[in-house]
Amino acid sequence: MTMQIPDNDHPAIQSGGLVRVLFVCLGNICRSPLAEGVFREAVGHKNLDHHFQIDSAGTGAWHVGEAPDRRMQQTARRNGVSLADQRARQFQVDDLRSFEHIFAMDRSNLNDILFLDGTGEFGHKVRLFREIDPEPGDYQVPDPYYGSGDGFQDVFNIVKRTVDEMLSRMIEEYYLT
Ligand code: 4NP
Repeated sequence: MTMQIPDNDHPAIQSGGLVRVLFVCLGNICRSPLAEGVFREAVGHKNLDHHFQIDSAGTGAWHVGEAPDRRMQQTARRNGVSLADQRARQFQVDDLRSFEHIFAMDRSNLNDILFLDGTGEFGHKVRLFREIDPEPGDYQVPDPYYGSGDGFQDVFNIVKRTVDEMLSRMIEEYYLT
């Protein structure tokens, strides 16, 4: 492995040492709250909380202020992750400036986010969450909202292995200890 010395343009240095990560889906009540919760849990497990700002948002406003979907919360809890303190919020144009890494759960979310980047200035920060997934399938996290119970566990499995890979890459990229 080659080591690089971070320079002053490094995004984590620009943002006062924090790596700011935002997960985005449609409603902010199923997929992105799960990604936020699982990432938080993984970061906490490695005692790296002080390096991160972690959040999630939805491109739509229907569920603003609501707790995550009960079925998603149950699945998360069964797998050792609590989503109980989260409340849905809508993605804002300002988020494009505030976060270094913006992960869209599906292509529709990605398009909606990029549409808000009128000047194309922030596009490099925005990508599909499953680009990091070692088994990326069609690169989208399926929306479990209208599906059956198993859909929620499938989403958990996708999110868990993607988040684990994401955290190892960030630990290397930002020299986190
Ligand atoms: P999410 O799931 O985008 O993963 O939070 C959805 C939640 C609600 C709706 C759609 C998707 N909805 O249409 O209300």
